[in-house]
Amino acid sequence: MSYHLLKGKKGIIFGALNEQSIAWQVAERAVEEGAEIVLTNMAVSIRMGTIDKLAEKCHAPVIPADATSVSDLENLFDRTMEHFGGRIDFILHSIGSSPNVRKGRTYDDLNYDFFQKTLDISAVSFHKMIQVARKKDALNEWGSIVALSYIAAQRTLYGYNDMADAKALLESIARSFGYIYGREKKIRINTVSQSPTPTTAGSGVFGFDGLMDFAERMSPLGNATAADCADFVITLFSDLTKKVTMQNLYHDGGFSSMGMSRNAMAVYNKSLELEYQDVQHK
Ligand SMILES: NC(=O)c1ccc[n+]([C@@H]2O[C@H](COP(=O)([O-])OP(=O)(O)OC[C@H]3O[C@@H](n4cnc5c(N)ncnc54)[C@H](O)[C@@H]3O)[C@@H](O)[C@H]2O)c1
Repeated sequence: MSYHLLKGKKGIIFGALNEQSIAWQVAERAVEEGAEIVLTNMAVSIRMGTIDKLAEKCHAPVIPADATSVSDLENLFDRTMEHFGGRIDFILHSIGSSPNVRKGRTYDDLNYDFFQKTLDISAVSFHKMIQVARKKDALNEWGSIVALSYIAAQRTLYGYNDMADAKALLESIARSFGYIYGREKKIRINTVSQSPTPTTAGSGVFGFDGLMDFAERMSPLGNATAADCADFVITLFSDLTKKVTMQNLYHDGGFSSMGMSRNAMAVYNKSLELEYQDVQHK
């Protein structure tokens, strides 16, 4: 169902690899809500994934860019503004990768070149794209920039490794640049802290199935799906959230406010499961 929330708006969506990608779902919803978009990803991801299918569906050009490369980003913003004949209104940063995680290096045995890459890909790229956009004056006033984060930025989650540090940096960049861009051009910058979601990047997290189950049990509303996330991000791109900036917004079914839930406790204390059948503890 369309509410025409993004009618007349234009934006760039980073990070759609395949149908499971959060960025894929955001791209589809953005177009459904009346936006025109440009899609971008690394050349290798464009080759390996199915972004062309999305591009066809969304009538969107795909412009390759490695988000760690300032020159690629400059080219992307130039070509995007050329394509639209002017400025854009929103940007989605939906990018994450850790070579340490991929190569099985644990947090107490990090390879520091890999660590730099984790930070560059998953966090510094956010700074780079905002800095390039600002220098090129690529965004209209009251524009909106969103990046995807995870609660490992605030709380330690076993196995999330150096991505936790990357997410902490990502959220800090949203605040630091949010001040500058907000003051100057009323552009808002937020991060959305999403539930574990079965995507290519998500499934690479150590013990992902257990993490999904734990989060599902702990969250009163259950885990938020990629489609749920897309709905939320659309509101942040829309004019309905013009004064929300420099925030890390939890989109996690309530997980971040929980300590222990009945559904999680049932796993640890089997006898309680029987009690629950008689007494509904609140
Ligand atoms: N899946 C989850 O459980 C979950 C939970 C919270 C937050 N997130 C975040 O959501 C975002 C999107 O991930 P996803 O789960 O949709 O997985 P995904 O694998 O579909 O998307 C990750 C994307 O990052 C892109 N990418 C990697 N290196 C890049 C680079 N140098 N330049 C440009 N693009 C690059 C990949 O090509 C891919 O499209 C990430 O920031 C991730 O950390 C995911």
